[in-house]
This record gives sequence, C-alpha cells and structure tokens, in this order.
Amino acid sequence: MSTPPADPHLPAVHPRPPRNWINDPNGLVFHDGHYHVFFQYNPYAPQHANVHWGHFRSRDLITWEPLPVALAPTPGGDDADGCYSGNAISTDGRLLAFYSANRTGRWWQPVTTAESYDGGHTWAKRPELLIPQPPAGTTMYRDPYVWRQDGRWRMLVGSALADGRGAALLYESDDLENWEYRGPFHASSPADTADPAGWECPQYATFGDRGVLIVSDWTPQGGPSHVTVHTGHEEHGRFATAAPPVRLDHGPDFYAPALLKAPEEDRWLLWGWAWEARDDSWAHEAGWAGVLTLPRELTLADDGTVAQRPARELLALRGERVLHRTGHVTRSRPVELGEVGRTFDLTAVLTPDPTGTGGLRLVTSADGTEYLDIDLDPTAGRLTVDRSRASLDARARAGTYTVPCPVAPIPGTPVELRVIVDRSIVEIYLSTGQVLTLRFYPVGDGPWRLQAHTAGTGGSDFTVEAWDLNPVGIRQEPLLASQQQDA
Ligand code: FRU
Repeated sequence: MSTPPADPHLPAVHPRPPRNWINDPNGLVFHDGHYHVFFQYNPYAPQHANVHWGHFRSRDLITWEPLPVALAPTPGGDDADGCYSGNAISTDGRLLAFYSANRTGRWWQPVTTAESYDGGHTWAKRPELLIPQPPAGTTMYRDPYVWRQDGRWRMLVGSALADGRGAALLYESDDLENWEYRGPFHASSPADTADPAGWECPQYATFGDRGVLIVSDWTPQGGPSHVTVHTGHEEHGRFATAAPPVRLDHGPDFYAPALLKAPEEDRWLLWGWAWEARDDSWAHEAGWAGVLTLPRELTLADDGTVAQRPARELLALRGERVLHRTGHVTRSRPVELGEVGRTFDLTAVLTPDPTGTGGLRLVTSADGTEYLDIDLDPTAGRLTVDRSRASLDARARAGTYTVPCPVAPIPGTPVELRVIVDRSIVEIYLSTGQVLTLRFYPVGDGPWRLQAHTAGTGGSDFTVEAWDLNPVGIRQEPLLASQQQDA
C-alpha cells in the first residue's frame, strides 16, 4: 500500500483512514473487550457517496486497529445506494448492527440489520428489511438507535413529521425481530419549527431514571445544521423534558454524534463527526474529508446540565510537556508563552480581565498574520473563538463562534480550559462541561507558538501548560471484502 503524502492538516491522534470520505460515527459498542467504532465511509473518493461502514476497534481508546470494511452496499439491494447510519448491540456472542438502507429516490431509509459472530471481521446481512415502511405522517425516516431497557429492546428512529416537527420515533421488541411502533418518543416543539426540521441520528442515554436525548437537527433546505440535547425523564413511553433543549457542542463543525455505553456503570462515551470547513476543491486535492472527534465522557449533573470532558484515557496520549508558564498579561504587551507542535493538549487557567476580552492566541505564521484566537468575554459570559485569520488560504471558512462560560462574569474566578489541537481540528472544553469543536487550516510557515493577550485595562493572570500528543492515527486504509480475499 502506498504511503499517503505528508499532509499538514491530516489529524494525527483523531482516528480516521488516511484518505477518502468519512461522516457519522456508527455502531458504537463495547464487545469482546474492545470499543468498536464504525463510521460512514466512502472508500473510493473524498465525497459523500457510496457509503460503507468503516470499522476501528480499540482496547484502551488510545491505540486503534483498522478492521475490514464492515458493511458495503449490495448492488441491486435495498442498501444499493448506501449503508447509512445506525448503531450496534452486543448480544448472545454476536454483534448486531441496525442501519439505514439507502436507495436513491426513496425518501425514507428503512431499518435493516447485519450480524457478525467474529467480532466484526465478517458480516451477514439479514435478507429482508427489518422495518420496511415508515409510519404514516412522516416525511423523513432514518438512523435507528437500539438499546436494552427494563427487559425489553427499544429503538429510536430519526424522523420529520408532516407538520414540520423533528421527531424520534419509538419502537419496542422482545426478540429483536418483531418491532411494535409506539409513536413519537419526543418531537420538537411547534415554536421551534418556523422552518420544517428533521431529527437525524437520535441517541439516548439513561442515568438512573433520568434520560438524555441527543438529536442532530437537519432541514430539508439546508441539510445538517447542529446538535441539540434534551434532558428529562420518561413517562408512559414519552420523553418529558425538564428544560428547553440546548446545543451539545457550540462549534460550527460538529454533527451526528453517537453514544457508546461503556462497561462501567453510568459511563457514556460520545464521538461526533467534524466535517471540513474548507472548499470542496481543497478537500478533493487533499484526498480526504471529515474526521471523528476524540472520545468524550458525557455526564448529567443533578441540576440537569449535560457536561462533556475528554475521555480520561486520553491523558495517556500526552508526551513531552513543551510549555509551562504562569504570569500576568497587560494590554500593552502580549506575553509569548512558547512554541508548541501541531498536535498538542493544553490546559489553561485564566483569570478574566473584567474590563475587556482576553485569552490565548495560537500564532501559526512567522510574521504573526495567521492565528486562531480563544478569548474570554467576561461581560457577555462567554468564550469566543475567532478563526477569521486562522488560514491565509481564502478557501478556509472564517467566522467567530461563542460558547457560554458561566463563571467568566464572576469577578476573580479563574476559568479552566482544556484545548486539544490536532493539525486542523480544535476541541475546546470548559471545566464546566461546555464544548466547542472547530476546524481550521493554517498554511503559515510556523513554527506554531502561543501568546497570552488582553484588550482590557485590568490585566489578566494565567497558567498554561501544554504537552505534545503522540501520534496514533490510523495509517492504513480498511480493506474491502474483495481485497480481503486477495490478501
Ligand atoms: C447524518 C446523516 C444520516 C445518514 C447518514 C448518511 O450526517 O445524513 O442521517 O444516515 O448521514 O451518510
């Protein structure tokens, strides 16, 4: 297999194949001592077409092993135009995947299944569709999510209702074969639906008798938009929410996350898809598009807030500590903190300057004209990420994005951040649980360096530490069934 050309934007610690297209994480399941991560994958081109299920597995969430492509469209079959998203369960010594069978021209993607008795190396598809038709009154239908609860199997399917609401439809089964439709588990409220919406990729986590429903908001006009999280509890087969939905990730490039129930009690892991934020022509030249986020732990606090943190295992990716600085910065003079590599993990404790915004700048060109800004805005109570100057190449998307930072306005209270940068993706985690994921494409001549700065008159205290991350990226393309026979 030929080695791909060095690409400064290809992530090193975020698993993805070295080339071609990926989108949603799928089929996340712990089975046979491994975390299995499948994903929407076009093995032939860096564009969304001919979608297969690629497959990685890991024992420790650190080292990933590419496995053969799990599901491929069957020519002439119900999934001839794509094995679309779904999940998987581990039951009776087998992996059972539920997925959306795509045919061009059919507006719904029926639910179908495939099973594997050898840990996901080989798969047998069920000959018939499992749920061939959507219920009446729907205008979009795909992405099954199956889980076990209270002695029964349950399934959510993403949908849009004819009245313009997005919905997660509920099915139940005793035997995984016969599924009874129970109606919408939850739907967007009419107030949210000035524009018709659909919900893709519903995911459901339980914490005792409380639940967290995650949906990917999609519109017929604009396609994928953003991800919302609904918290509440179940009442007679319906999800009763305790508060209005909020965004799961505040960045512009995060979509279709999926949950994995870890073997430990109440431990939920989550991966999302971070799409490209550059012109298609550039992704085409690079030969790849899309990346999965790092695994995150999802928790539900007593007050009903959902928090995300990088999975604790990721600390093991840290190599050399390249930077450790404590100090004070004033408006007149930014502080040079030192150089970092292109893949690093950073922690920062910043005491906001109440008189103005301030924070960190990642400078990626020697002359300082290319940079990404991460700033606290204490007056507005938020963290701002500005990528307007993060690439000297006009084919990269610009823009400023914000994430609520509840402690920023409290005078003298330090804000703790964790920032994981991997060549063209940054994941910013606040210690209070909010996250922002964003893509950026530096082309400057580097080296990369960090600065602390402030626009306020009061000055700001900081402590910043950064570690190089050891590359563990997947450097091999998953084999297709035809290649396995040749191998
Ligand atoms: C979400 C999504 C799913 C669909 C899959 C197709 O990004 O559109 O609804 O199953 O991607 O690749």
